[in-house]
Amino acid sequence: MKHLISSEQFTTDLLHELFVLADQMKSNPRDFDDALKHKVVATLFYEPSTRTRLSFESAVQRLGAKLISTENAREMSSAIKGENIHDSIRVVQGYCDAIIVRHYENDAALKATEVARVPIINAGGGTGEHPTQALLDLYTIYSFKQRISGIKIAVLGDLKNGRTIHSLLKGLALYSDIEVFGLSRKGLELPDEYIHYLRDKGITYHAISSLEDIPASIDVLYHTRTQTERMNGEEAGSGEIIIDQAVMNRFSDQSLLMHPLPRNQEISADVDSDPRAIYFKQSENGLFIRMALLYSYLG
Ligand code: CP
Repeated sequence: MKHLISSEQFTTDLLHELFVLADQMKSNPRDFDDALKHKVVATLFYEPSTRTRLSFESAVQRLGAKLISTENAREMSSAIKGENIHDSIRVVQGYCDAIIVRHYENDAALKATEVARVPIINAGGGTGEHPTQALLDLYTIYSFKQRISGIKIAVLGDLKNGRTIHSLLKGLALYSDIEVFGLSRKGLELPDEYIHYLRDKGITYHAISSLEDIPASIDVLYHTRTQTERMNGEEAGSGEIIIDQAVMNRFSDQSLLMHPLPRNQEISADVDSDPRAIYFKQSENGLFIRMALLYSYLG
């Protein structure tokens, strides 16, 4: 891969190579201290981020590379003066060996590749995709279950605007015998293009209407917040799907609860101490899988 724009680019072989490398980096981080010693990586974030930006920036530093960064690039870079993404990439690539882009437009990272001679990594684009989140989600599932094929997963929340869901589903579609249950409130259903994508890959997708429709033996519950920043007040509405301890008590002791974070009220704090609630371990895995990804591009 020259660039990483979509989970459609993954293969199971590539994912498993990254999982093995991420495991090594987790166990022996010091072994990679100088792995990218002479490299420079740029992070261009036109939308807010805590996990993706800081885990990428930590990964850069832990691999011994140098970092150049613009947080809030929408206002604090020359984008505010009208510079388009093509010109920004043409300029920034002169200063670095890879560019990590988060943008409010779905196709900005793809546009960046049209002029880029260094790798472009999509760190989340609008309501489209977030492939490196899918990497850490798949790595987390694999770490806890020792397999991905054969899992049953329920995706919950804002299935329409949630780019983490879109990229995760495309990643899961690489594996066999996956069954997906989708639950959202009205208006935030999974767009048809993803349902068709799953169907074309032989994945069963059940659009369900209640938490009661999820089998008690589900392997993974993957919840997401409502992306209110992409809606007007009326659309944002109310009626969140809430997971609390009473809900978790319905599921098996092997049912993992994941969330890309940040969360709002959709997972109540009483669940945090449940050993099945693995969202903070999930976000920590973002560091190791992003180290593995950068190493595979630049090492
Ligand atoms: N999960 C995720 O993308 O979080 P941030 O928006 O904080 O990067």
